[in-house]
Amino acid sequence: MYKSFEELERDCSHCERCDLCKTRHNVVFGVGNKNAEVLFIGEGPGENEDLQGEPFVGRGGKLLDKMLNAVDLDRHKNIYIANIVKCRPPQNRDPQEAEQEACIEWLRNQVALIKPKIIVCLGRISAMKLIKPDIKITKEHGIFFEKNGITIMATLHPAALLRNPANKPGAFKDFLNLREKIKEICDHTY
Ligand code: URA
Repeated sequence: MYKSFEELERDCSHCERCDLCKTRHNVVFGVGNKNAEVLFIGEGPGENEDLQGEPFVGRGGKLLDKMLNAVDLDRHKNIYIANIVKCRPPQNRDPQEAEQEACIEWLRNQVALIKPKIIVCLGRISAMKLIKPDIKITKEHGIFFEKNGITIMATLHPAALLRNPANKPGAFKDFLNLREKIKEICDHTY
């Protein structure tokens, strides 16, 4: 286990634990406030993220920022955003189970240092890995689970909302519920 976030990030930036390191341009470690009470976790970097080294910077990221800002959350102020895998899977395919397993230790260390009160899974892959393997995200998004003392919820992936805008109101409701949950269990005033 790491004592410092900087040391963790430095080691992660040299990671060769799986073959995704061979095709990456950048390790996408995460962005945001390391003392955040709310941690968002996506699936893995896409093309823009791989090139810029920051999570959710493409069209999906813009939509995510809009939804976050509507409930007083901001990636540069009061949340942290990371992914299950830190390197881009070629052609944006789903990260394989072996790649997720190889990478998850970095995320475990991030969680141990950030100590979030709430984790929000962005999309099916993250929800399956962190909440339960058989989660049905279309039915179970917005539901708060409890795992290892952390409150955890899944919402629809922003890219899925861009493909299927009819689901946006349902996803936005998750963000409104999240705001209420933050008021209930978080210390900082948002
Ligand atoms: N999709 C993700 O799941 N994560 C990113 O960082 C970008 C797109």
